[in-house]
Amino acid sequence: MISRSLPVRPLRAALSAAATALLTLTALAALPQTPAHAADTLGAAAAEKGRYFGAAVAASHLGEAQYAATLNTEFNSVTPENEMKWDAVERTRDSFTFGAADQIVNHALGRGMKVRGHTLVWHSQLPGWVAGLGATELRSAMNHHITQVMTHYKGKIHSWDVVNEAFQDGGSGARRSSPFQDKLGDGFIEEAFRTARAADPDAKLCYNDYNTDGVNAKSNAVYAMVRDFKARGVPIDCVGFQSHFNSASPVPSDYRANLQRFADLGVEVQITELDIEGSGTAQATNYGNVVRACLAVTRCTGITVWGIPDKYSWRASGTPLLFDDNYNKKPAYHAVLSALGGSTDPGGPGNPGATCTATYTTAEDWGSGYNGKVTITAGSSPISAWSVNVTMTPPQKVVAVWNGAAGWDTSGNVMTVRSTHNGTLQPGTSTTFGFTAQRNGTSTPPQLSACTAS
Ligand code: XIL
Repeated sequence: MISRSLPVRPLRAALSAAATALLTLTALAALPQTPAHAADTLGAAAAEKGRYFGAAVAASHLGEAQYAATLNTEFNSVTPENEMKWDAVERTRDSFTFGAADQIVNHALGRGMKVRGHTLVWHSQLPGWVAGLGATELRSAMNHHITQVMTHYKGKIHSWDVVNEAFQDGGSGARRSSPFQDKLGDGFIEEAFRTARAADPDAKLCYNDYNTDGVNAKSNAVYAMVRDFKARGVPIDCVGFQSHFNSASPVPSDYRANLQRFADLGVEVQITELDIEGSGTAQATNYGNVVRACLAVTRCTGITVWGIPDKYSWRASGTPLLFDDNYNKKPAYHAVLSALGGSTDPGGPGNPGATCTATYTTAEDWGSGYNGKVTITAGSSPISAWSVNVTMTPPQKVVAVWNGAAGWDTSGNVMTVRSTHNGTLQPGTSTTFGFTAQRNGTSTPPQLSACTAS
């Protein structure tokens, strides 16, 4: 008999799984499918203050599920970290390659994020052929480069760093030696801005630099240039303050005052490449101070951090960013969210040592669907609440969640699950939540990221 040859246990398991699926399907109507509360993320909290909150992004990391999930959940602006630089888009004269930068721009615009363009004219990451040109050729190569790149991205970039780092460090306030400065003289900056305005009249045109964050000889020199540009009608709309801070170059006490004096010239100010060396409370305090300085200046329109997890920071040996290597939110993250007026629950400055980890297993599997089980374990401090992101690969669909409260991001693929009755955990102890998913033809397992505790 055919029925005798059927293995009994799997049949029972399948029947009970089907019954579970049926039961949980009925729970679908009750499952909250609304996005997480607006101010639970950096981008949403900044938006409530009329600002953007962005990150430098590398195209090569976009395929990493946790990287993409954190970007998509937390940020509403991106800056390509290297992909729009001269050596990336015009390595060979008049041969333009936009593939990697396009990948970032499409990722961002497809999810409603804004894009900063970085950067058109800079002495670094500049192909050798540019440095080898004589003055006449260099002028036309510079203008051609600006025009081609800005035309390619016309209408897609909210602000462009037209010229980057043209002033010298130290006390002189002089221009930095570069092929542009040395061959074209001071006027190259003005020329670059005029060319940029013609190429994309709707993009904001920024001058961007570092060690200009406080009042000093270098920022005074930039200030004098911007004042002169405004007085003579040279098109400039914004000044970018890179804001790479460490113990040798701490957040200046006159940061807000410096941003304000530039804003008073009639330009926007933007914090363009923020990272702050350190860890724990000290780093968190510095980050909070930077955010408060921007919010105190009406024309400070947005903040970009120079990377997402510490492991991808250009400061290879440091930990200057808001997420640790496993995408856990650091105390600095909570300080930023709190300074932006966002919700700090779960996670908050009240319990900065609170951490958690999350692991996934498939508890039951009936082919067309499965029950997932996520185990949350507290780190070395007691916690009273947790949340974790679960990224689903469409067209898989979650139809029920238990022992956790679920909210969804706008893409509908990232579910944030928060503790309900099961938030309190002693160090090293665990709890679980579960969910039922329909596969709809895709077998990719769910990805976990950003376990956050408070
Ligand atoms: C850095 C990138 O983060 C690195 O990946 C790259 O190797 C070098 O450039 N000022 C700038 C940024 O304007 O473009 C720099 O980015 C960091 C300093």
